[in-house]
Amino acid sequence: MKTVLSCIQPTGEMHLGNYFGAVKNWVDLQSEYKCMYGIVDYHAITMPYDIKKLREHTWDLIMDLVAVGITPENLFIQSLVPEHAELGWIFNCFCSYGQLTRMTQFKDKSQSENVLGNDQFISAGLLGYPVLQAADILIYKADKVPVGKDQEQHLELTRNIAQRFNSTVGKEYFVLPDALYTATPKIRSTADPTRKMSKSAGRKHIINVFEEEQRIRKQIRSAVTDTGTAEEGKMSDGIDNLFELLKATKADASLIKQHEDDYYSGTIKYSDLKESVSDAIVDMLAPFKERRKELAADKRKLKDQIRASSAVIRKKAQETVNEVKDLIGLMKVKN
Ligand code: TYM
Repeated sequence: MKTVLSCIQPTGEMHLGNYFGAVKNWVDLQSEYKCMYGIVDYHAITMPYDIKKLREHTWDLIMDLVAVGITPENLFIQSLVPEHAELGWIFNCFCSYGQLTRMTQFKDKSQSENVLGNDQFISAGLLGYPVLQAADILIYKADKVPVGKDQEQHLELTRNIAQRFNSTVGKEYFVLPDALYTATPKIRSTADPTRKMSKSAGRKHIINVFEEEQRIRKQIRSAVTDTGTAEEGKMSDGIDNLFELLKATKADASLIKQHEDDYYSGTIKYSDLKESVSDAIVDMLAPFKERRKELAADKRKLKDQIRASSAVIRKKAQETVNEVKDLIGLMKVKN
């Protein structure tokens, strides 16, 4: 059975970009593959963050993930598998400084308000972030990595690191992983459809999966439709994004077709399209909200389950790190 690995940062609530771009795929893949999904708290400390809230965000995100259909046995918390950091250190020596400075996410994040407003402190962890991501993936020898399009460059770097490692040790030790995308790998902000939906862009740019219905409707109602950037015969980013959101939900195919026909015949009313998008999102999220309420009633049980699943998953990580240390001349820890 092939292995699937993916991760998400506990930097706030899960939004529709995370869900439609990656997590929806995570749920579906569970029936076909051996799946492992990490809540990557070591990654979350690369940017300014609130120490008092990190653990709470981690447990909240676990509840979100289980509520949308992730099996608790497939989940782990990265700091409960510290071998990720050890392999990350080793991989630092298989990746060049130049490669890291070329990462577009590093360029964007190091210039974000969050960093600039924090005495312009750019941590070395932010630069080294993709190396730790490579360790997250390769430590389980994952074949497939379901992510959004924004992670493409990080996946390419992961493959480079694996290749450099393999050629150094003269053995095809690491599998070269492939990215897996959903049909909607880049969900855009409804407030500014020229940019992706992202927590770091600010509150008005995201719609959370566990959002109040009224807020979802308000945000979709005020979605920007005409950005004035559309090429001849093409939908503008904002309209295209609304159609993508509609298609990503379980909306009726005939309803989608009707809106498309109206668009191409020039009779579309954007208020109608927006109402269909809101209805479809609200309907899709309703059972998730119910499930989350049930989970919140017994948090202790879920926490125990995740500690146990992290311990099981850690065994595989320990095995890889021991083999890697052996291959490159480091000392193995004897148990
Ligand atoms: P993160 O926490 O920002 O996002 C989690 C997942 O959601 C996807 N995503 C999106 N997809 C489509 N449209 C969007 N607007 C959108 N916003 C987010 C992301 O692509 C991601 O799949 N570096 C990663 C976390 C990570 C990781 C890993 C992922 C760490 N180690 C190993 C895969 C494998 C990140 O910051 O994702």
